[in-house]
Formats: sequence, structure tokens, C-alpha cells
Amino acid sequence: MSEEKFESLSKTQSGSLGEPHTLKASPDFIANRSVAEDVYARSTRDRLGFWEERASELHWFKKWDGVLDWNPPWVRWFEGGQLNAAYNCLDRHLDGDRRTKPAVIFEGENGGSRTLTYEELYAEVCKGANLLKSLGVTKGDRVTIFMPMIVETVVCMLACARIGAVHCVVFGGFSAGALRERIADVQAKLVITTDDGQRRGKIIKMKGIVEEALRVGCDCVEKVVVVERRQSEQGGTGSGLQGKELAKREPQAADPRFVFYHDALRDMPVDCPAEVMDAEDMLFVLYTSGTTGKPKGVVHTTGGYMTGVAATHRYVFDLKEDDIYWCTADVGWITGHSYIVYGPLANGATVVLYEGAPDYPDKDRYWQIIDKHKVTIFYTAPTAIRSFMKWGLSYLEKHDLSSLRVLASVGEPINPEVWKWYYKYVGGERCPVCDTWWQTETGMIMLSPLAGLSEMKPGSCSSPFPGVKVNVLNRAGEVAEWGHNGYLTVPEPWPAMMRTIYGDDNRYVKSYWSHWPGIYFSGDAARRDQDGFFWIIGRVDDVINVSGHRISAMEVESALLEHPIVAEAACVGKTHEVKGQALVVFVTLRDKDAPKDEVIAELRQFLAGRIGAFARPEEIYLTNDLPKTRSGKIIRRLLKDIAEGRALGDTTTMEGSQVLKELYKG
Ligand code: WTA
Repeated sequence: MSEEKFESLSKTQSGSLGEPHTLKASPDFIANRSVAEDVYARSTRDRLGFWEERASELHWFKKWDGVLDWNPPWVRWFEGGQLNAAYNCLDRHLDGDRRTKPAVIFEGENGGSRTLTYEELYAEVCKGANLLKSLGVTKGDRVTIFMPMIVETVVCMLACARIGAVHCVVFGGFSAGALRERIADVQAKLVITTDDGQRRGKIIKMKGIVEEALRVGCDCVEKVVVVERRQSEQGGTGSGLQGKELAKREPQAADPRFVFYHDALRDMPVDCPAEVMDAEDMLFVLYTSGTTGKPKGVVHTTGGYMTGVAATHRYVFDLKEDDIYWCTADVGWITGHSYIVYGPLANGATVVLYEGAPDYPDKDRYWQIIDKHKVTIFYTAPTAIRSFMKWGLSYLEKHDLSSLRVLASVGEPINPEVWKWYYKYVGGERCPVCDTWWQTETGMIMLSPLAGLSEMKPGSCSSPFPGVKVNVLNRAGEVAEWGHNGYLTVPEPWPAMMRTIYGDDNRYVKSYWSHWPGIYFSGDAARRDQDGFFWIIGRVDDVINVSGHRISAMEVESALLEHPIVAEAACVGKTHEVKGQALVVFVTLRDKDAPKDEVIAELRQFLAGRIGAFARPEEIYLTNDLPKTRSGKIIRRLLKDIAEGRALGDTTTMEGSQVLKELYKG
């Protein structure tokens, strides 16, 4: 299917229009709010002036000559300006009280914690940057980071930014094949990984996955840096492994490309000047799923991205100097980049970094962490909240959550019941809930209430951030009437927008800018109500959002086609109580007599190995044929109807409609 294809929507609204009533933050919260009352009026009066003010809040080595150069879809923000992202996250906080303020509080899955002040984080990053340099990494080189949620992951991202290298973080749940594809596409010179990762007490051999990935087609990789988890847990200050531990260390791989991080770091000087970067120099590439089988390397640059993430992080969450901020996302996704690393650290905030799962060792883990570290701002995903609801209130009631001030949500639509539960039981009806809509591509939050300033409606992501415009359009490209479903679009450039797809400008134009020229199309459907509140419906392309992970139907299908037994495959999403959506796969086999149960188990395992465990399908149907149009295109709508257990839709254009009677479900 070509990239620009998307479903058409019904003309009128489906489902409820949501609550008519709005909620306000408490008078106490409003009285202490930091964000100025007139921020919306100010940004509407002078949009570019508003962004220029936000940019001025960063540290620039040289001020920009122009704010915006817009030649759709090509954009340049703060042209002529020079800055460094790591300098903004570290050096400029070292002059005053923030020098000794905690920057990162790491909480390990086993309950150990480690705190780094801004000064300590600065020193670690400088040493890490010198290590990268000593391994031949220079400005513009790409570095793939395949790591769990540990301090060194943040350190290595900032170390890359410090020397002008482009990091490309690959989520630690991906398989060797998926990692290989991303390393090769970005042509990484260096890979950083750990010996082990840990999830729900289980050890994941990350280094083994890297070794497997490098076995073919990654000749670009010159060195692999391995962070040893035991050293990281011990404070990672280079004290080194001793006696028995040294003996236990895996022998240095026969491959001379492998380097142990903490060993090498010990000789590195703390001093490392930050590279002067142009505003439009690349900061990172992050892969996300598109509607084809090949993932898209979303490119973000420095000046606009930093401006956007710092401003949104401060305004949306009403950030205060003494806040303890915790975002539960993984650093391997955009939420981790923008709202664990760059936004909060640019603002000098204290960030909690948690390595593990919400239910390990027990289902109260998140509440225990909030209580232990006195978290004030909590940012998580609806899929997690739905699990908490299912697990019940007793887990919450064991802990004191009174430190919480602001709650937020991201990744999927949060329905009003879930919103209300979050507001009532986690926030004690005292904390504003900010449902934030945005994407890997937008880089920063685009739709959200501002805590304490905006009114809220349970289930709605409220309205565009100051200085951002968002429209719901009908197919003709007109702004849809309120209450009508339409396509969620952005008509004006914003600072943190992606600049292109790495190495593929054409695909960038075709994917996002070809539906209505000069207008960004998000791939989501939404509607606006009569009060101007936005309600997100979900994706209208072939991207499926499973527990907040974007998975491309085509990526799953092309992976399945690599299995010798598979003749044809189709993948669709189905509503799931906890995950939001789950994958349902339809497969026709080359050998129709193959034992069905075994085939289904094998395919499930194969997908986990080919993409990652999160791509394991909920259901697999074996069928003799797939429903197709006369031109041979698979009709996903029908498959979706089957997956959802609905009556079949219109089958008049379908070839051989009897095929659906032959389904075998696993
Ligand atoms: C979905 C995550 C409803 C949406 C930051 C979008 C949401 C995709 C919300 C981007 C929300 C994200 N309400 N849906 N508040 N936030 N989405 O790139 O479909 O991993 O297009 O970025 O998640 O996912 P991505």
C-alpha cells in the first residue's frame, strides 16, 4: 500500500461528543501557577515573537539571524543561530544552586537507586564524550544506542550531543533483525549497548542481540561500547570490577571492535568543550513505524527541537524549581527523548529514571516509587492506567501519593472513565490531568491543557499549545464543522517538527505533505467540539498502536512473508481492554496440511524474534485465502470486522467471498 493511503471517515461523529462540562484546577493550584494568564493571547498576537522568546530562554553561542524560513515542507528555524543541546542541559546549570541539585534519580528494578547532581551528570557526560572522541567519533557521525533504562543511556545521548554526533536510540525491546535494519539504514559508526538488561527480574542479553545484529550487513560499525550493568549499579564511577566479579566477566569478545565502557572511561578527562552546532544541525534520528514495511528514520535538528521541548515541558506541567518529575516512558521512544532527557534537563529539573516494569516485584511498584522519591509530576500512558484500574485500589492505598501535583498522559486516546479514575484516585481530585497529543514526528507536545491555566474535559487533549495551530480537516481540505470527524493536521510550521526522513526526502514529502500541499498530516483522525476541545479518534493509516507502541501492519506482514511456510499475510488492529489495540494476523500457508497449532505457535515466536516481543500477535487466523479487491488488494476493513467480531461490512467488491468461512483461529 502506498504511503499516502488512508481510510475515509464517516461524515458525522461517531460515539459520544464527550462531556459538556469543563473542570478547573483547584483555586490553590491556580494561585501558585507559574504560567502567565495571557500566554494564549500573546502567542496569537505574535506567533513567531512567542517562539523567539522561548528560544531566548536557551543558551546560544550566537543568536539567530531569522526566526523562520518556510518553504513548505522545508523549514529552517532560528537560522544562523548556534548552540549545543548538551550545553543547554548541563553547563548552564552549573553556575548557581542547580550545580548540586539532583538531575537524575535512577531507580533500579531491584530497588537500588543512584542520584546524580547536575555537576556529576556533567562530569559523566564529558568523560563519555571524550571516550567517543577517542574511538574516532566526530561531528555528524551516527551512533546507535541500544540500551535499557539506566543512567549511562542518558549520559551517552548527551555525550553524542556534546560532540555533535547524531544519536539513534533503538528501543531495547527490538530484536536483532530490527536493530540491524536500523543500524544499517543510519550507517552507524559506533554502537553502544549493555551486557545485560533486566525486565521483571529476567535478564536480557542485550550484547548478544547486538552481536547477532552485526553478523551481517553492518560493515559501517567500527566499534561497540559495552556498559556493564554491575558497574553501572555500583555508581559507575569507574571504580572497576574486582576479584570474583572480574573473573565472572565474559571474556572480551574475539571481536576487537568491543570496548568496555567503564574501563575505558577511567582514563578520560572531565573536560570536554561542547561543539558549536548550527540551529539546523541534526541532533538525532529516531525510527518509527510508517505504513510501509520499512521504518522511518525521523530527523530532528537542534535549535527548534530544544526550544519546543523546553517550552512545552515547562508550560504544560507548570514546572517549579523543586519539582520531582517522573515520566515512565522508555528512552527508546520519542517521549523519552523529549520528556525524560532534553526538555526536563534543559529546564534544570530533577528527573526520575525507572528501569523496570510497573508490576515488579508487585503491582504497587509505581506508587511505591512516587512515595519514595516524593514525585510531584507524573507522566504515563493510558495503557498503564488501564492496568492499574484492573489491579484495583488496594495497591494505591498502601502508599502516600500526596506529593503529586500534576498528572499527564500520552500515547493513545484516554477515555473519559480512565481519565476520571486517574484524576480521582491517583491525583486525589487535586491534580490537573494533562492529556498530551503529539508524535515522534512533531517532537513536542502539540495538544494539551496547560496545568492550572486551561480548563479540562475528561478524555480530551484540550487545545493547541500556544504558538501551535492544529486543524481538523475534511477530505476536501476544509476545516471540518465541530462535531464532525476529520483528519488531524497542522497548517503552520512549529519549531520541533521533524525535518525529513533520514536519507529519504521523497518519502517525507509523500507521507506527510502530499494530502493537502503545505499542510502536515498526522495520520490521526479527530474532532473538535463546540467549545473548541479536541478529541482524538486514532490512526487512519495502517499503523497500529499497541500499548502505546507504534507498529506498522506492513512491517508485520513483510516479516511474516520471510517465513518459508507463509504464502500471504495481513495484519490489522483490534480493540483491547488494556493494550488499547492488539495485533490480529491472517495468514495463508504454502502447505495447507501443516499442523495448525504448531504453525500458530511457531509464527508467534517468529514475529517476536523478527521484530520484538511487543509485536507478538494476540490472535492468528489461518485461512485458505484472503479477501481482496478485484485488483488484488487485501481488504483490511473486512479483516478488521472479523477481528473485532463484528458483522461483515460491504463485500460487494470482493473476490471469492466464501474464503472467510474457512478461517481457523489460534
Ligand atoms: C497516538 C508518542 C490520543 C496517535 C508521543 C499518534 C495519541 C501516535 C495521544 C504517535 C493522545 C499519542 N491521545 N492518541 N494523547 N498521544 N497518540 O510517535 O495515534 O510513538 O499519531 O509518539 O500515538 O505515537 P508516537
